[in-house]
Amino acid sequence: MEVERVEALSYGGLHELPAQFIRPAHERPENSKAVEGVTVPVVSLSQPHDVVVEEIFKACSEWGFFLLTDHGIEPSLIGRVKEVGEEFFKLPQKEKESYANDPSTGSFEGYGTKMTRNLDEKVEWVDYYFHFMSPPSRVNLDIWPKNPPSYRGVTEEYNMELLKITNKLLELLSEGLGLERKVLKSCLGGDEIELEMKINMYPPCPQPQLALGVEPHTDMSALTLLVPNDVPGLQVWKDGNWIAVDYFPNALFVHVGDQIENTKLPDLKHDLIVIAKLQCQSLVNKERMRMSWAVFVVPPHEAVIGTLPELVDEKNPAKYSTKTYAEYRYRKFNKIPQ
Ligand code: SIN
Ligand code: FE2
Repeated sequence: MEVERVEALSYGGLHELPAQFIRPAHERPENSKAVEGVTVPVVSLSQPHDVVVEEIFKACSEWGFFLLTDHGIEPSLIGRVKEVGEEFFKLPQKEKESYANDPSTGSFEGYGTKMTRNLDEKVEWVDYYFHFMSPPSRVNLDIWPKNPPSYRGVTEEYNMELLKITNKLLELLSEGLGLERKVLKSCLGGDEIELEMKINMYPPCPQPQLALGVEPHTDMSALTLLVPNDVPGLQVWKDGNWIAVDYFPNALFVHVGDQIENTKLPDLKHDLIVIAKLQCQSLVNKERMRMSWAVFVVPPHEAVIGTLPELVDEKNPAKYSTKTYAEYRYRKFNKIPQ
């Protein structure tokens, strides 16, 4: 089936947005000015261990978000990840279409654009490329871009680095929660934990004040590790306001997703604090293309996710029912309460 790409609309000389991209008034960037002068937490991994544990824990419970620096990934690798993604999106449209996905099959892998199912439904100003990176049993290289030829090597290298950082972050967060280091990872499927790459491409938008690149949402993942290009647009929701996140070269933008939200803390010191999931959205730009590379850290479908028994008691019951990740996804897609 022929899908209308946002990129084709953007570069087709469009002056006014088609109706399906015009957000309801309360969602429009022109009506929801982000707060200036508030900065998101930045955590450097090169600090003493206890400080890192404390800062990550604080950022996850107060913001559900932080910028991670000194994470050990070479800036040149991050640069190459961005280059190969940009090169893919610069390919002729016909070649990109040869990777087109078919969400009706239940799989989002490949080159995609969300379509409206009914007249009222709004869509986002974005095209994307989505594929699995880990574990090897989930990877189908036929679905990865073959062009540029270096896409595969660069992405595999990035995958290895992000696996190390995922392990590290889950250990640090487990420790912050007063748990054994391996607990969170093992709850999320251990070595079956999955990494999924989603490259977002937000073309220049003729009326950016009326549209959104990504609507307000929380990620279904446990964590999302993201790098953007230098066009700002990400906003995070904090205490009733949108806060604009500035570009921060080579930092990893760490988002807390649904799977580790609301973990109650066992010791008295932190009794009432929870790990918050992040609500965020992304704006688009009139002149420049914005891009972001989001890697979702998710449990395998059959993993059973629920609040850890050691973190609940009669006074602090679990907020959500325990269920498989597959069931969680089904409910979220179909807007059924968790
Ligand atoms: C997202 O959170 O889904 C994307 C955010 C971004 O592009 O920065
Ligand atoms: Fe997201």
